[in-house]
Amino acid sequence: MKFFIDTADINEIKKAKELGILDGITTNPTLVSKIGRPYREVLTEVSGEVDGPVSAEVISVDYEGMIKEGRELAKIRDNINIKIPLIEDGLRAVKTLKSDGIKTNVTLCFNSVQALMAAKAGASFISPFVGRLDDVSEEGMDVVEEIRAIYDNYCFDTEIIVASIRNPLHIKIAALTGADIATIPFSVFRQIIKHPLTDVGLAKFIEDYKKIPK
Ligand code: E4P
Repeated sequence: MKFFIDTADINEIKKAKELGILDGITTNPTLVSKIGRPYREVLTEVSGEVDGPVSAEVISVDYEGMIKEGRELAKIRDNINIKIPLIEDGLRAVKTLKSDGIKTNVTLCFNSVQALMAAKAGASFISPFVGRLDDVSEEGMDVVEEIRAIYDNYCFDTEIIVASIRNPLHIKIAALTGADIATIPFSVFRQIIKHPLTDVGLAKFIEDYKKIPK
């Protein structure tokens, strides 16, 4: 299972990278807006920080606009893939960008049939938003399970990125379901390492070591 970080903050990326378990980055316009610098400048900076895939999202919602923007963003660096919204023009854009040799991450996916459509269009990645589904009292992880089954039934090689992750439980279920990737906010990266019994156990070992005759 691959771990991406869901951020446009270079300091968070550097810290996650230090852990030695970072495989890629996802961004979106909301995350970039928090940085307070121009869109392209931020994407250029973060994509230089890792060798793995980095998702850069288009702002246009029409086919021509998405193609134009996607081609421009893809020029930033070889590891950039283009995030395209799961709408009709988006699926058309995925097919065209694929024929250009540009990878895509189809975003804002909320059910498994949408994910089937994205795979048929040739998406490299699909991003089901589990947290936002949970927020409206639907089971986000059920959608991931269904997508895994559908992709396996038909041998689609589109990779599933579990997105909109809110807590460690989302990551556990994503792993059990066989999702390819979890894109994790920095705050959750920290949570998944920690357990109170680890801290208590470690303190006791250190204390007891002091009792050993020197
Ligand atoms: C990543 O690809 C998504 O844009 C992101 O995970 C959305 O997360 P949110 O629902 O917390 O905004």
